[in-house]
Amino acid sequence: MHTAGKILIADSDRKSRDLVSAFLTYQGYDIAQEDNAASIFDTIREQRVMVVIAELPYLYSIVPDFIERARKLVPPLVLIGYGSKDDKLPHPPNDESFLFLPQPLNLDELESLVMRAAEYQAMRFSGATGDAASHPHILCSTIIGRSAPMLSLFSMIEKVAESSATVLIQGESGTGKELAARAIHQLSGRNNRNFVPVNCAAIPDDLLESELFGHVKGSFTGAYANRAGRFEMADKGTLFLDEIGDMKANLQVKLLRVLQSREFEPVGSSKPQKVDVRIIAATNKDLEQLVLSRDFREDLFYRLSVIPITIPPLRERREDIPLLIHSFLTRFNSDRRHAVKGFSRDALDTLCNYNWPGNVRELENLVERMVILKDNGFITPDDLPEKYLSGRVLVQAPSLPTDDELPEDGICLNAAVDRFENNLILQALARTGGNKKEAASLLNLKRTTLIEKLKKKNLTYREE
Ligand SMILES: Nc1ncnc2c1ncn2[C@@H]1O[C@H](COP(=O)(O)OP(=O)(O)OP(=O)(O)O)[C@@H](O)[C@H]1O
Ligand SMILES: [Mg+2]
Repeated sequence: MHTAGKILIADSDRKSRDLVSAFLTYQGYDIAQEDNAASIFDTIREQRVMVVIAELPYLYSIVPDFIERARKLVPPLVLIGYGSKDDKLPHPPNDESFLFLPQPLNLDELESLVMRAAEYQAMRFSGATGDAASHPHILCSTIIGRSAPMLSLFSMIEKVAESSATVLIQGESGTGKELAARAIHQLSGRNNRNFVPVNCAAIPDDLLESELFGHVKGSFTGAYANRAGRFEMADKGTLFLDEIGDMKANLQVKLLRVLQSREFEPVGSSKPQKVDVRIIAATNKDLEQLVLSRDFREDLFYRLSVIPITIPPLRERREDIPLLIHSFLTRFNSDRRHAVKGFSRDALDTLCNYNWPGNVRELENLVERMVILKDNGFITPDDLPEKYLSGRVLVQAPSLPTDDELPEDGICLNAAVDRFENNLILQALARTGGNKKEAASLLNLKRTTLIEKLKKKNLTYREE
């Protein structure tokens, strides 16, 4: 997970150096220490340091032009500085390359900043050219993800973009179906023509046909002139049929015909019109289920799902959460000229454990709300709306990891440890019928420690 290169700790006080170093080493970071700031640039070069954590008064007293020199480094560096507000320090640049840690030093806040710096450096450097567009964790500058399912989604999108085959994108609400559809268009040879979205659920049934196929003058009351439909607008481009599961039966037949013959008739006309469109359909409904219940035509379903793509819900790819938060935070901070530094470890853990029924959209809205309400500092669990804290009721044992192998694409360590711990606590409570004293003794904990843990984790035990 920590791919941002070494982290150098520069502090004149050996004890704080050791403390910070031990803490971050334990978190899995690759640490170097520096007790002689005069040679800091040599160390940065020799050890390939990407992030420097420094006691600023000390650093500046020895290297007063540190910032100016650091800015010229290739590859660029992120500096996390601390020191008391009263110290006369050079004015720090206000951007992602300089993060300030308030005193007194709080390890959770430090970790949150280090995580942010590491993500930022990983974003900047893991692309072949260092260019955001070629970064493996971002597709088309919009879709962010590092989890295995997202990385395979990226390569799927790149592959299908080359053809004109019909694509059916399924996934819960807010998982990024429209983003994926736009990315396919953007990466395709049709990207110099229109991407035309139609929301089949938002347009009244009786208007949808004319909206899609257009109409000729006089074909119905109010049709004062010929009007082109969305199919025609999307000619040589891409037509995005969103919420296709809501399309009524009579239109399903007409759509099937266009898919088969690549021609359609505007409302009120009997003259077929040829069209060259790439169709991408999306739905958050279970189309196969709709086929079984006869609410969706089976033949249309097969025509649409030439290339089926399913975007998994956010709770099945929790490794993406920190990366998404980081990216939304940067965007909303800059939109609103706020300087929220990050989420504390507890807050991040809480969010990594939440179920996200509204998926990425819900996460995006939450981060925006947090940035509006808090214009600087760290977001802690106290800042989070109640529902993010109270949803954690243990009712069934989540599956234990079957082995301790690190997944290919990394893991959210805190969330994994948390799940592991919760699982054992739950088993102990289940075995003792919810008796905390006996459960604590099974876990070799004091009863009060177990109670404290349950409280801190916001967990309640309920027998099913
Ligand atoms: N992987 C992602 N990276 C960055 N932003 C994302 C990602 N997935 C979704 N979003 C953001 O979340 C919001 C919802 O995405 P989108 O509209 O594509 O979802 P959807 O699946 O079409 O949802 P719905 O079913 O409700 O229409 C958008 O603001 C989008 O930018
Ligand atoms: Mg959508």
